[in-house]
Amino acid sequence: MYEQVSHSLLNEILDELKPEIRRQNLRHFYTRLGANFYAVHSLFHHLYGHRDDFRARMIDLVEVMASRYIERDEALERSDMAREMDHNWFLDQEWVGMALYADGFAGNLKGVNAHLSYLQELGVNLVHIMPMLLCPDGASDGGYAVSDFRHINPRLGTLDDVDALASSMRKRDMLLVLDVVVNHTSDEHEWARRARDGESAYEDYYYVFPDREIPDMFEETMPEIFPDSSPGNFTFDERMGKWVMTVFNSYQWDLNYSNPAVFIEMVDIILYWANRGADIVRLDAVAFLWKKVGTICQNEREAHLILQLMKDCCQVTAPGVLFIAEAIVAPFEITKYFGEDAIVAKECEIAYNATLMALLWDAVATRNARLLNRGIRSQPGKLDRATWLNYVRCHDDIGLGFDDVDIEHVGYDPRAHRTFLLDYFTGAYDGSTARGRPFGRNHKTGDARISGSLASLVGLEAAIESGDEAAIDRCIRLILLLHGIILSYGGIPLIYYGDELGTTNDYSFANDADRAGDNRWMHRPRIDWERAERRYRHGTVESRIFDGLKRLIGVRKSIKAFADFNNRELLETENDHLLVFKRSHPEHPADVVLVVANFDARPQHLDLGRLTASAHPEIARPTDLASGELPAIQGNSLVVPPYRFYWLTEQRLAGII
Ligand code: GLC
Repeated sequence: MYEQVSHSLLNEILDELKPEIRRQNLRHFYTRLGANFYAVHSLFHHLYGHRDDFRARMIDLVEVMASRYIERDEALERSDMAREMDHNWFLDQEWVGMALYADGFAGNLKGVNAHLSYLQELGVNLVHIMPMLLCPDGASDGGYAVSDFRHINPRLGTLDDVDALASSMRKRDMLLVLDVVVNHTSDEHEWARRARDGESAYEDYYYVFPDREIPDMFEETMPEIFPDSSPGNFTFDERMGKWVMTVFNSYQWDLNYSNPAVFIEMVDIILYWANRGADIVRLDAVAFLWKKVGTICQNEREAHLILQLMKDCCQVTAPGVLFIAEAIVAPFEITKYFGEDAIVAKECEIAYNATLMALLWDAVATRNARLLNRGIRSQPGKLDRATWLNYVRCHDDIGLGFDDVDIEHVGYDPRAHRTFLLDYFTGAYDGSTARGRPFGRNHKTGDARISGSLASLVGLEAAIESGDEAAIDRCIRLILLLHGIILSYGGIPLIYYGDELGTTNDYSFANDADRAGDNRWMHRPRIDWERAERRYRHGTVESRIFDGLKRLIGVRKSIKAFADFNNRELLETENDHLLVFKRSHPEHPADVVLVVANFDARPQHLDLGRLTASAHPEIARPTDLASGELPAIQGNSLVVPPYRFYWLTEQRLAGII
């Protein structure tokens, strides 16, 4: 019944579209709108059906989808169709990503374009360019406080530079990932300025309150995101004489998605960037999209409905474009950003695997894989046609967001364990050479997260400083081990720029007034291209890391079992120091790879016989695809050297495990 209503409504809406839209050739658009209209209409109705202007807004939404469809150029349309045919295209093992700031990496967007061959040399073919849109000079949160969603920050370039970059990447078969900061705007965005000027339509774009009554109610249950630099979730705006919700920094105003105008604006912006050549759109801070008094204002059901609706709208206009969910939330909440009660992803196709990232750091500090194994086991399964973005470091801090139940299960006290990790990575723990710093310390709860570059956190900065060759070697092995896991785990590995050269902390942020209050800047480096040349000099730190990664990336791309079809099986071992999992391709079952990683500083043994219930393994000599070497076997045991990992393959291994 409802379906019928929505269909006749579709026809009515199409009749009401502006004549200039109706005149166009909208063949594919009509087909896709027809296929998705029931979902679009019912979600939009669920969110906004109670409003008098529901129907008018529904027409606005269809008009936005149609207008952006008309603008979509032919090459992008072709790619939409190709991807619709090959709809699992992004699950392939051929994709390897890097996240970078255009200025830090190569000065500006032209510089990025000029350095694409460097990325190709490494094997990277998916590039996430950190936010590059117009934002205030100082109060910018590294670009996440956008003051104009359709203009490029002049420091980084122009729209023409983006077009040039997108087209040059397309020619090289590289994917472009761009950010759309959906949760908030800068307080200098035109919408915020007009709200300040008293335009009530724009005040409705945000959460604005005349006094503290409702803000105080919200504060009772809302956590603080930047408790030391921007405490509380509301900021008093002098000009308006009112309180505005600002969950992140005081200059980032949260958008109010209970207003359909906000939703429609954002869909328009997403489609605008899809049309400018983004293959994948990273949706920032998606957990925060819906606010409700009495909740933590994260992971609300409506936040998921908004994402589903965004996806359905994108499916109509630009179906080849994927979404990445940036939702750094509890492990059991993250997988919900693919969608629930479905077979294939229906919200975002890709999500940051913050759980794996944090667990890997736990294994680094403890030198064992107890919590890592437990955490992976507890991670809910994901849908089909959904994949992880697996990473070791990114531009943000490392949150210790493990599940307390898991921490207890492996025998630690959650509070004491988090304190240990913080001490370890800030170098306060005896014997630790990590050089991180606490980030976002909350003096009320005692919680903190960790800033620092990969190289400095694993101790490479200290090892280089003291000239300790053995320690340098250990750190490099650890860097390769962590990457060895994200390259084989299942999903798209996302390398963080600078890590491929072993770039250590950059302490210069402390001298810049705009950055000094945010120590995440110490791991947002400026690439020194002269130093990068050392990757060609045999034996240098740069060449050992760069070449090591390059090799691993090349091997990953050749292993079909590393494509992500939820084809990973974690294997129980008797040895706490090891992470062991099996990857096998559903269509090539003989193509089995056993990933074995040792987080300990001592060699560890893996009893291959115990991996199978029918303990008659006749182990021949498995080969390590990662290094091309034959690993040492003693009896039935595989000997795994310190901080070493293997990608083992061997036909008979396939038969027994
Ligand atoms: C995301 C970004 C982070 C930013 C925050 C607010 O978490 O990754 O860098 O501070 O959103 O936009």
